[in-house]
Amino acid sequence: MDILLGLQWGDEGKGKIVDFLAPKYDIIARFQGGPNAGHTLHFDGKKHVLHQIPSGIFHTQIQNIIGNGVVFDPVIFKTEIQKLQDRGLVPTRNLFISKKAQVILPTHRMLDAAQERNKGKDKIGSTLKGISPAYQDKIARAGLRVGDLFEDDFEDRYDRSLKRHLQMLQTLGYEVDLAQEQAAFFSAVKFLREFKGINSEYMISKALDEGKSVLAEGAQGTLLDIDFGSYPFVTSSNTTASGACSGLGVAPNRIKKVLGIFKAYCTRVGSGPFPTELHDKTGEKLREQGAEFGATTGRPRRCGWLDLPALRYAVMINGVTELLMMKTDVLSAFDQVEICTHYELPDGSHTQELPYDLCETEIKPIYQKFEGWGSIPKNVEKFEDLHPNLQKYIAFVEAQTGVGISLISFGPDRTETLMR
Ligand code: IMP
Repeated sequence: MDILLGLQWGDEGKGKIVDFLAPKYDIIARFQGGPNAGHTLHFDGKKHVLHQIPSGIFHTQIQNIIGNGVVFDPVIFKTEIQKLQDRGLVPTRNLFISKKAQVILPTHRMLDAAQERNKGKDKIGSTLKGISPAYQDKIARAGLRVGDLFEDDFEDRYDRSLKRHLQMLQTLGYEVDLAQEQAAFFSAVKFLREFKGINSEYMISKALDEGKSVLAEGAQGTLLDIDFGSYPFVTSSNTTASGACSGLGVAPNRIKKVLGIFKAYCTRVGSGPFPTELHDKTGEKLREQGAEFGATTGRPRRCGWLDLPALRYAVMINGVTELLMMKTDVLSAFDQVEICTHYELPDGSHTQELPYDLCETEIKPIYQKFEGWGSIPKNVEKFEDLHPNLQKYIAFVEAQTGVGISLISFGPDRTETLMR
């Protein structure tokens, strides 16, 4: 099994790349996160955004799996499926959902809103899709799983959760108006019963035994990982390579390639530390050139130069075997670009490591400048044909991370991709 995951704060372009690489794989599987993700794909002149469904869904010969590590919202799922059906796809044929995936209930979304509101200025900037409350229930061993939705006594199980959640919402001072959301939820549960609930661990293990190829598709990014991200400004799952093992039920010794995807610069949406963030015109230009607005929430993304200490950290944690550099064309608009090579600490010393508490430690990024490379010709066929300044940029990142860049993307379309 190979893993493809984000090395920054999410939004690296995973959707495009999974879709691009999909023909090489028999199975594409999502292993964590949920509808907080927004994986954008462009092809045949159209844009498609997927939230919970793996990005292999547009290839009818590929089996797509939503793994046990995912928190799954039936209402959003129904909307996503209906959009795919409108495009003529028949997802009931090639989409499977782990019975062990946790279910997001309408009250989880309300709890997310209430908990964020009560954090005041310390709010995480959650997508408010109910991710954290759903994972809280999972860890508290109180969650409902997709398998429960298929059981006759599902409504009793739902009622028990509802009662508990309503008590919590009352304590948080949140006014609940459930009627509409609850109706949508039960209609979505009915709709979901047309799909196959599976044990992803058996399905994937058998597929691997038969010599089939599997790609695990990560959501969010390494720096949003619950353990290794910029805690507490993180999401509630393991977005890193180990999450693919626990989120699908695949043993670590079955992992082959770890494809690490990063933007040629950095972005972050929501609150939390971002060492290379640019609060000036350059940051604005990056946002404009890169159309940096959230695919799920539409929020403007914060922008800054590439952060090598953070990238090296992500390479180390994930055991990245290949790097994939995205949105290289966005930097074409700059005469000069910069890369942060290390940080200066308050005592004046330099470090290449991420401090334990990125929120509290005042670090100053130290940059190296690179000459720009102008526009990238659409018909470029080889790395060697790229502008020498871009080749220098690529070589520098490779030398600094110790990992080769095997793919660069220079536009949203499938065709705007160059493989080495
Ligand atoms: P949550 O996962 O919705 O609870 O959000 C927690 C943090 O992760 C917030 O800062 C979000 O903006 C961020 N986040 C969650 N999902 C994504 C994503 O898919 N891309 C980028 N940021 C995300």
